[in-house]
Amino acid sequence: MVHKDKRPLIIGHRGASGEAPENTLASFGLALQQGAEGLELDIHLSADGEIFVCHDSTVDRTTNGTGEIANMSVEELKMLDAGSWFDERYAGEQLPLLEEVFASVPAEIVINVEVKCPLTPRLQERLLQLLNQYDRLQSVVFSSFHHKVLLGLKQEEPRLQVGLLYRGNFINHRNVAELTGMDIYSLHPYYTLIDAEDVADAVSHGLRVYTFTVNDPVQMKRVYDLGVSGIGTDFPALLKIMLDSLES
Ligand code: G3P
Ligand code: MG
Repeated sequence: MVHKDKRPLIIGHRGASGEAPENTLASFGLALQQGAEGLELDIHLSADGEIFVCHDSTVDRTTNGTGEIANMSVEELKMLDAGSWFDERYAGEQLPLLEEVFASVPAEIVINVEVKCPLTPRLQERLLQLLNQYDRLQSVVFSSFHHKVLLGLKQEEPRLQVGLLYRGNFINHRNVAELTGMDIYSLHPYYTLIDAEDVADAVSHGLRVYTFTVNDPVQMKRVYDLGVSGIGTDFPALLKIMLDSLES
């Protein structure tokens, strides 16, 4: 039996994107059904200033349309089918607005909003509106590979929870903290980059460690043993089975 102080959060990466079309309400709903306690999603701003949930800057890969989100209107984006490319069963699934996710996901679920687009005054303004309207200051964590985006968000609203994303060079989080003076909530390293020392160091500095994207049970067990605070996966059901088996 494994004794742990704290079970890591099950974070559905783009929802349950191994089994449903990524970054759709269907994918988020499935992740929650499967036991996810957190959801990771990616955002872009439309031409008319609404925040859409989509990984890529274009709609080409995950819808039946083409074009840059930044050049398209809400009306154009909402007409697209974001489900059929994955499976005909999901035909008619739309690209969600961030607002629709905030409105439909239970308040206790942590939402990790990964900012993929540049931080413009409009994006900043709309994010803060939505956080206030849906009372999500405490249950949203903003992450980005572009750490300046996070710095900009924090400067506007110091209460925001921000997390640094890393595909490499994980340990330099202390440099970022020291250079910017930014109060960092979490670190989001790629799972192959971390070892027990890194995780212990981060946790001892009061940081959560939310690693991504772990789909292989052997690797799930490895990062669990390292003591991470959350595990992002495309297969939340699999992660739940694995965690339950370790803790039973
Ligand atoms: O937030 C973790 C992960 O989503 C970062 O990479 O490309 O899947 O958005 P990507
Ligand atoms: Mg992402």
